[in-house]
Amino acid sequence: MTENLYLSGNFAPVEGERSDTALRVSGKIPRELEGMLLRIGPNPVAPDPARYHWFTGNGMVHGVRLRGGRAEWYRRRYVRDDEVVAAMGWPPVPGPRRENELGGGNANTNVIRHAGKLYAIVEAGNLPVELDADLETVGRSDFGGTLPGGFSAHPKRDPVSGELWAAVYSPFADSIQMVVVGTNGRVRRHVDVPVPGRPMVHDCAITERYFVLLDLPVVFVPEALEAGGMPYQWKPEYGARVGLLPREGQAADVVWCEVEPCYVFHPMNAYDTPDGRVVLDVVRHPRMFATDMHGPNEGAPTLERWTVDPKQRRVKEQRLDERGQEFPRHDERLVGRPYRYGYTAGFAEGVALGGLIKHDLRDGKIELHHEGPARHFMEPVFVPASADADEDDGYVMAFNYDASSDRSDVVILHAQDFTAEPVATIHLPTRVPYGFHGNWVPDAS
Ligand SMILES: [Fe+2]
Repeated sequence: MTENLYLSGNFAPVEGERSDTALRVSGKIPRELEGMLLRIGPNPVAPDPARYHWFTGNGMVHGVRLRGGRAEWYRRRYVRDDEVVAAMGWPPVPGPRRENELGGGNANTNVIRHAGKLYAIVEAGNLPVELDADLETVGRSDFGGTLPGGFSAHPKRDPVSGELWAAVYSPFADSIQMVVVGTNGRVRRHVDVPVPGRPMVHDCAITERYFVLLDLPVVFVPEALEAGGMPYQWKPEYGARVGLLPREGQAADVVWCEVEPCYVFHPMNAYDTPDGRVVLDVVRHPRMFATDMHGPNEGAPTLERWTVDPKQRRVKEQRLDERGQEFPRHDERLVGRPYRYGYTAGFAEGVALGGLIKHDLRDGKIELHHEGPARHFMEPVFVPASADADEDDGYVMAFNYDASSDRSDVVILHAQDFTAEPVATIHLPTRVPYGFHGNWVPDAS
């Protein structure tokens, strides 16, 4: 058989947990960066090369702690699920369980802090897993018994209210569930929105008026699950649409607007226009899981602007950048509000990650940060220089992988000097496998 892409190169898992101090640093770490840069991805303990898919590997969280201009430590820890604790001989993970759980409590896709707690989170039905400040697993959480089903890997935090808004789905439900988690860490409300099938709903967006749903043609195929393969597949006949649910509305209030069939894992951001439309910026894949179940090679994902007109029920689709790119981020003090700058990870060639891309969406200007063909950047995380700094006045932080040394660094750029040498590079003594997402968790939150 051919080699499994997701078990080779920097997709391959690293061996065991580790903790390192006295990290080597080039340049100067800004003293205002006090906290942890966290990142999570799959690190399978016992993958079957014939079946393993990147999306299903056991979670591992990687963290770098910054304080007083120093990099105090790098740590990596498994997010403990049934398979991990069985393989390692560790005690079972405490906490509630879901009936329709996949993968024995696996949580591998994002890591966030909310209401004072750290969580590893994932989509498709599994519960969040709480972590402590040293990244050790505490237990599964259903937000104090208030979560009606599973959760999502991509909740959006409203910068004014502090609430989390998430689109939750499961292979066992013909609906997409909007879940709102209050600043007290408990679910305030949820709405089940019926849809014609069982789509994969990786992410969502919010504006000041709307919760934005994506109902796209990657849908659950039960036979594929039974065969042990990727259970979601490309079905363009399902159609593709964006739904606008008024934030405090009900399922019947959703206005659906069709788009060309495609797949979107990640919106960059969304906002309302004064004339009642919604601007939704997305990374658009021309298709997904159509022919290639063991590689992301289904055509280059590009940055697009969708302008959704709920009165006409029409979407104007406009390409902003032809380059292959993913993992869009922006200044999250502007979630759901008009914004100007976004940051993505570029694909150097085909599916390989490359440099970072900065978008000035107002003036249509694009800047690239490259450090040569061997250095592959993962998701860029924006951190403002201070609470009241202007948009884009701050740092873009990213883990990378250097293929020439088979190690990773954390690179800190000043966002307003994007193409320059990094402000600081923290050299890690190990590689960090290509994974999914992460966040900056400041001490003061
Ligand atoms: Fe994602």
